[in-house]
Amino acid sequence: MTEQIGFFDAIYTQRAIRHLKPDPVPREIIERLIEAATKAPSGGNSQGWKFLVITDPDTKAKIAEYYFRVWEKSYGSQNPTPPSVQDHVLSSAQYLADHMAEVPVLLMACIQHDGSPSTMTRGSSIYPAVQNILLAARALGLGSAITTMHKQYEDEIKALLGIPENVETAALLPIGYPQDGYKYGPTRRAPVSEVTSWEKWDES
Ligand SMILES: Cc1cc2nc3c(=O)[nH]c(=O)nc-3n(C[C@H](O)[C@H](O)[C@H](O)COP(=O)(O)O)c2cc1C
Repeated sequence: MTEQIGFFDAIYTQRAIRHLKPDPVPREIIERLIEAATKAPSGGNSQGWKFLVITDPDTKAKIAEYYFRVWEKSYGSQNPTPPSVQDHVLSSAQYLADHMAEVPVLLMACIQHDGSPSTMTRGSSIYPAVQNILLAARALGLGSAITTMHKQYEDEIKALLGIPENVETAALLPIGYPQDGYKYGPTRRAPVSEVTSWEKWDES
């Protein structure tokens, strides 16, 4: 465990790690991740989140099956490699799609709502919490990734997990210790100058 990692070191090196050991993750570590999540902001401090920790092999296998179906349909061997997805991301994501059921913990981040249509605003009250989980996992020596493919089977997965109607799933986070040879960042990202304008859109 490397809890002493600096704040910016954690941000600069937190990247998707999808090759995870099947070794169990202690309950108190998972609770620590969720505690980090609960420190995030939400609209009006509504804290409408709920985190489902899934370790049961049968449940994981069913979720993995839905996930794999979406993966196959979108990126599977029958599909040409999408130009927007880098090769290393594709092979890493393929591995996860093939091995999701073996990941020790699947953490489903959910958000309660009032029945109105799903919007970006709703998402903005759960994704900061998800990012806190990713960063806390990095600090605690765990690997993880944010995934959303399960959303195409939202109804089936909600039924499987007993999630009520007024709750939407936001992200499925596979969590475990990284396999040997699979390391944290540095992440590859566009420089600040490329993604920043000052005052008006066209000004750099
Ligand atoms: C909204 C969102 C949805 C994502 N969905 C998936 C997914 O379904 N499966 C997956 O393997 N990765 C998924 N990712 C992870 C991205 O592929 C990953 O963050 C990106 O490639 C950067 O990877 P890096 O942090 O390792 O550089 C998702 C990321 C985001 C932000």
